[in-house]
Amino acid sequence: MTNLRLLAIFLIFSIANAQGLKLGFYESSCPEAEEIVHRMTKQYVSHVHNFAAGLIRMNFHDCAVRGCDASVLVDPSASNNQTEKTAIPNETLRGFEVIDAIKSALEKKCPGVVSCADILALASRDASTTISGPWWEVPTGRRDGIVSLASEANALIPSPFSNVTTLKQNFAALGLTAKDLVVLSGAHTIGVGHCFIIRNRLYNFTGNGDTDPSISPKYAEWLKTRCPPTPSDMKSFVFMDRITPKVFDEKYFTMVTEKRGLFTSDATLMDDQETRTYIETQVKTAGSTFAKDFAESMTKMINIGVLTGSQGEIRKTCGSINL
Ligand code: HEM
Repeated sequence: MTNLRLLAIFLIFSIANAQGLKLGFYESSCPEAEEIVHRMTKQYVSHVHNFAAGLIRMNFHDCAVRGCDASVLVDPSASNNQTEKTAIPNETLRGFEVIDAIKSALEKKCPGVVSCADILALASRDASTTISGPWWEVPTGRRDGIVSLASEANALIPSPFSNVTTLKQNFAALGLTAKDLVVLSGAHTIGVGHCFIIRNRLYNFTGNGDTDPSISPKYAEWLKTRCPPTPSDMKSFVFMDRITPKVFDEKYFTMVTEKRGLFTSDATLMDDQETRTYIETQVKTAGSTFAKDFAESMTKMINIGVLTGSQGEIRKTCGSINL
């Protein structure tokens, strides 16, 4: 075999990964696809910063259930009124309109070609870079799933009430490590958490009107000023990273070391030696590796359980499975 041939084979293998995704999958079928996703995501996120957090979180919630197959995007319908979108952890997802607008632009350009699963994976990355967050390569060629069940999302999306042992198990089931868990939790450097999720931590931790001792008393006092004890209040929220709420940086880890992690699932990352060591290193060492680590873990996450080839379908609209 000639050296040139060997090189060609090596290149093909290095570009196409195990699951059959490849860089520039739409190069000939829809050459402008990635450019359109990039341009439109940038427009939306530049206008409304919150969409960045919304899209990155949506990407995770998609990949956590049946792999990255856009199952999270399916609207409830007469034939299935309990899709993932209606599940409890997905009630506060935001950014669906961004994906729908991009899909509609792409359907005009290249009908039936670009999957919603790829649009979401690309838009999440482009949202991150729009707010000067990390960049990662997004190989494409994902197909859209044809099953979306609220029960699966309720069971599989990690809970903010979980301890680190459970979270590590949740991530292991997705093929992700304890390092991925702590690194990806670093996405909580942007975006918000709703008060109703932490009300028990603040006002009734063990059922005796007490506060979770793993929150610093000063921070708990501040949280109480933002999150009233009113059980019916479903609207109030706080930024998860109070230090630099809109900057994608390692300050989330500082919050966690200072007992200012918003959810139990954040605070508990200090209870495991590996996750704690990572957090402490990001905080203490000059020159955080968080951005690079985040890109690496996202690269793994966006490969989870992808459908390729003739599996699944290319949806016509992201909100509904083709008839
Ligand atoms: C470790 C398990 C995780 C748990 C238990 C968890 C839980 C939560 C919860 C409860 C919220 C607040 C939602 C709200 O009140 O509106 C939230 C927000 C968020 N999560 Fe996570 N999360 C986890 C991991 C991740 C991962 C892996 C990512 C992405 C890679 C991520 C990205 C985000 C972002 C960006 C927000 C802010 C959303 C917004 O402002 O709209 N989370 N998460």
